[in-house]
Amino acid sequence: MAETITITDNRTGEAIEVPILNGGIDSAEFAKLLPGVWFYDPSYGTTAGASSAITELDGEAGVLRYRGYPIEQLAEHSTYLEVAYLLIHGDLPTTEQYDAWVHDITYHTFIHENVRKRFMDGFHHDAHPMGMLISTIAALSTFYPDAKLINDREVRAKQVTRLIAKMPTLAAGAHRHSVGMPFVYPDNSLDFPSNFLSMMWKVAEPHYEPDPVLSRALDVLFILHADHEQNCSTTAMRTVGSSHADPYSATAAAAAALYGPRHGGANEAVIRMLTDIGSIENVEPFIADVKAGKGRLQGFGHRVYKSYDPRATIIKRTADEVFAVTGKNPLLDIALKLEEVALSDDYFVSRKLYPNVDFYSGLIYQAMGFPIEMFPVLFAIPRTSGWLAHYIEGLDRSSRIVRPRQLYDGESVRDYVAFDAR
Ligand code: CMC
Repeated sequence: MAETITITDNRTGEAIEVPILNGGIDSAEFAKLLPGVWFYDPSYGTTAGASSAITELDGEAGVLRYRGYPIEQLAEHSTYLEVAYLLIHGDLPTTEQYDAWVHDITYHTFIHENVRKRFMDGFHHDAHPMGMLISTIAALSTFYPDAKLINDREVRAKQVTRLIAKMPTLAAGAHRHSVGMPFVYPDNSLDFPSNFLSMMWKVAEPHYEPDPVLSRALDVLFILHADHEQNCSTTAMRTVGSSHADPYSATAAAAAALYGPRHGGANEAVIRMLTDIGSIENVEPFIADVKAGKGRLQGFGHRVYKSYDPRATIIKRTADEVFAVTGKNPLLDIALKLEEVALSDDYFVSRKLYPNVDFYSGLIYQAMGFPIEMFPVLFAIPRTSGWLAHYIEGLDRSSRIVRPRQLYDGESVRDYVAFDAR
């Protein structure tokens, strides 16, 4: 069977044959054959904005792989920093490469004193940590003006190291500022997640050692959140990168996209929802309200997954390990009941709405003591490596700026009317 589609233009009677490549139609081919005809696809539901070799996602089968490696195997055997290397470089590192990578990241965790003193300290005392993080990432581009040399691979690699390394420092700094606690400097004797926990929670002790179970759980959550192909924030990253903006400015744009409740803010929305529901007896009436169109079941549904999100399965296991240390989050029983009721209800089953990564992650973060405002920040720390992998791939693969077409449906031409005649 020919791998083509035949389209008849009924205005002219002309038929054209468009080749299908990798399951899609190459718009360049299409544009040559039917100039001036555009696809109207405002949320890119049927448009591939990029070809990519980073993350493979099969939403029907519940498959997620980074560079070919199943997420389940990476969550079991790998560390976040190894996964970050894999995403950026395309292959798992050798021992020497891994050691050098961890060393480089560890020795770039400090931020310029002026980032802290002049910039972060300037925020209002109750500023949202995600707002602080987004602005401070953007501000880093002014501290590293060489970042503009985006075609110099060595310079680019330095910014990648800096960004991955400094995100936990900025994230914890934003939290400390928002609660009026003094900034904690990185402790380079600790591994990546433990260092972040130290910067979050250290008070007066000379050296902070987090519980290894919590540290590992956080690392697993970082692995699960490291990349997710062309989601909203990654699309923002690639779009801004296509204008050849420096990686700090592009990462700030991606982080801003992540801030919204439909994307990185969903786990915060889940906790608020569970708190509002309040008790197991209120679950059924809540589900009835959702079905009646009064609100959404937060943490359920996904544009791409039409079966159980594989990340949610791993997170559910991680939650048990965390609760064994911290004690059970009292909202867990409501969440489990919600899942049980929804998954046996035709409204959710027929629409293929399953728990996504955010349904349980917030419960873990909350049990570990993170305030709700920190949830999108916790997402941004590991996603930085995925964003950067896409930024680099976008620069290497495409020389054109992202610039979609528009279907104009406003007023046609009209003459200006003076104030007194309106
Ligand atoms: N609760 C109730 N109904 C829903 C939900 C939900 N969470 N999600 C989708 N639906 C319904 C929706 O009303 C629609 O019904 P109908 O066909 O009768 O109009 C149908 O399911 C299809 O929904 P959609 O809005 O076309 O789906 P979408 O692909 O545009 O939206 C989504 C995906 C994630 C924005 C949406 O499912 C949602 O708002 N979920 C809750 C927020 C959430 O958990 N977001 C985190 C996503 S995972 C993190 C990440 O990877 O970024």
